[in-house]
Amino acid sequence: MKVDVADRVKRLPPYLFAEIERLIKEKKAQGVDLISLSIGDPDLPPPKFVIDALKAEVADLKNHNYSFSQGEPDFRRAVSDWYRKRFHVELDQEQVVALLGSKEGIANIGRAFVNAGDRVLVPDPAYPVYANGTTILNEAVPVSMPLLEENGFMPDFDSVNPKGVKMMFLNYPNNPTAATVDKKFLREAVDFAADNDIILCYDNAYSEVSFDGYKPPSILEIDGAMDVAVEFHSCSKTFSMTGDRIAFCVGNKQLISGLTKVKSQVDSGPPVYIQKVAAKALASYMSDEQPDFLKKMNFIYRERRDVLVETLCDIGFKCDKPKATFYVWVNCKGDSMELATKLLNAGVAVTPGIGFGKHGEGYVRMTFTQPIERIKEACNRIASVFK
Ligand SMILES: Cc1ncc(COP(=O)(O)O)c(C=O)c1O
Repeated sequence: MKVDVADRVKRLPPYLFAEIERLIKEKKAQGVDLISLSIGDPDLPPPKFVIDALKAEVADLKNHNYSFSQGEPDFRRAVSDWYRKRFHVELDQEQVVALLGSKEGIANIGRAFVNAGDRVLVPDPAYPVYANGTTILNEAVPVSMPLLEENGFMPDFDSVNPKGVKMMFLNYPNNPTAATVDKKFLREAVDFAADNDIILCYDNAYSEVSFDGYKPPSILEIDGAMDVAVEFHSCSKTFSMTGDRIAFCVGNKQLISGLTKVKSQVDSGPPVYIQKVAAKALASYMSDEQPDFLKKMNFIYRERRDVLVETLCDIGFKCDKPKATFYVWVNCKGDSMELATKLLNAGVAVTPGIGFGKHGEGYVRMTFTQPIERIKEACNRIASVFK
């Protein structure tokens, strides 16, 4: 039998991280002690009360049946309670859907609303799923919105042609640039979407990883956002639960209903015990202030951030201390793959910016999801390359 993937799968772009991943594997096979600053996966464990809750909920035999496609009512209530406390936004149960990680929801919302040939605005550089999972796999056309350093890594809506555009993605705090935004920008985004009948998908996966008093906003805090927008959140980074696959999408009722309809034919909801644990984790918020364990987590990230950014600046790189996320977006003024390869040979894995889009070229992304001693050792190795 000749096995041929569908044309839409053939249209996926080449995987630009493949070469660097091959080199990483090769180094590891040679026994090289590689320090990975390339993975967006927290090294810090979930808080103890989350693990304790997980053990208890797994042991409860009632928690092993199918769950509802839209998510368990208690989980959705916990999400809306969290929104009220954290963002002062009111949501009813029909405005919440549970996800098996936000990646799945981001891809499936395309299935629900995007037709073949529709244009989808995606930031460049960006998390690759917007262009690939959501757009190309639904036979739509990704249209890049450049995120340029001189614009604070925000798109310039005045230069975007809205003709034929069905959907737009925005993501702040941003992966990979670590840029953050204020409500003035969000106001512009909602107006642009409303004026042009565009579905606004706001990815807020990093809203709880923030420093120096910065509190990332929700798009739903903006008047009129509920008419045009949904927001994606995840327990992955907030509670270090990347492998547990639990997230949620909230906002406009019709958009949530469309996404739920697709999901009812694709999956059967996250495990009940995971939803119960995530509900407890969300309930740890008493107000819009972060609970202590998150303050501690962000304190640890911030210390690492400072070591990494200060070293990079001493070497002569241009990069800022990010106010959120665990990424540093380093302007390397050159070929990102070449720099990544050079650093790999010195024992440090970083991510070449070109893998996030054309406008990611000239940058590398470094992640501070390693203990501080490893970050310091990585800094020594990076510095030795530029002596
Ligand atoms: C911007 C962004 N959105 C969404 C995700 C997906 O997270 P998850 O599927 O674990 O919720 C990631 C993961 O790295 C991300 O960086």
